[in-house]
Amino acid sequence: SFRKRLVMGNWKMHGGLEANAGLLADLRAGAGILADYCTLAVCVPFPYLAQARSQLENSAVSWGAQDVSAHDKGAYTGEVSAAMLNDFACTWVLVGHSERRAMHAETDDLVAAKAKAALAAGLVPVVCVGETLEQQDAGQTLAVIQRQLAPVLALGTQAVSRLVVAYEPVWAIGTGRSATPAQAQDVHAAIRASLASIDAAQVRVLYGGSVKPDNASSLFAMPDIDGALVGGASLVADEFLRIAAA
Ligand code: G3H
Repeated sequence: SFRKRLVMGNWKMHGGLEANAGLLADLRAGAGILADYCTLAVCVPFPYLAQARSQLENSAVSWGAQDVSAHDKGAYTGEVSAAMLNDFACTWVLVGHSERRAMHAETDDLVAAKAKAALAAGLVPVVCVGETLEQQDAGQTLAVIQRQLAPVLALGTQAVSRLVVAYEPVWAIGTGRSATPAQAQDVHAAIRASLASIDAAQVRVLYGGSVKPDNASSLFAMPDIDGALVGGASLVADEFLRIAAA
């Protein structure tokens, strides 16, 4: 495939200056030999963007944030703009992670607005979608994902060709229960089909949800799985690098 694989860590609300220093140094040291085969990235908490930048600059690992405001500036206490992320040389930003959708009431429209703001600033939004266990049991997986993607697709072909989609079934996140490769492949193919009017062949679709060194290769063997968004295993350099090596 001509879509270069992307393995991205999402640290969530973990870390501290001292722990990060070791992790980032290990990633920097270990990533070099993998860089020909895949792109490596970490999305860190806002306060550590400066640290990620200083430790990863000119390495094979790029960095980004876990959220961004849909607004440019103004009275939005606690929000961080895309321009601010640019000040720290971010490449990526997650938008619409299921934890933000569930715990911070982010709607599909807001997620699309965040993706739009990120693109306008030259960042690559990683748009997260995925169904809950209840929705899966009710056979609503594809309908839920189409609904989540609809306002993003409405941003237009130019926009969509520049972003990354991450499929993360909520029931697989942090549970140790990954989707099977075949299960994920079905959804990834459907996501790619829904991008069809775009240049779908170039858009990377990542899988997320309990990706570990021992299940990564079978997931990456699927034709429409272009890499992973890794939570827990991204906090341990050796595990994250072994996933990238897969
Ligand atoms: O963004 C990452 C996902 O939420 C997956 O987290 O690998 O800990 O299951 P996990």
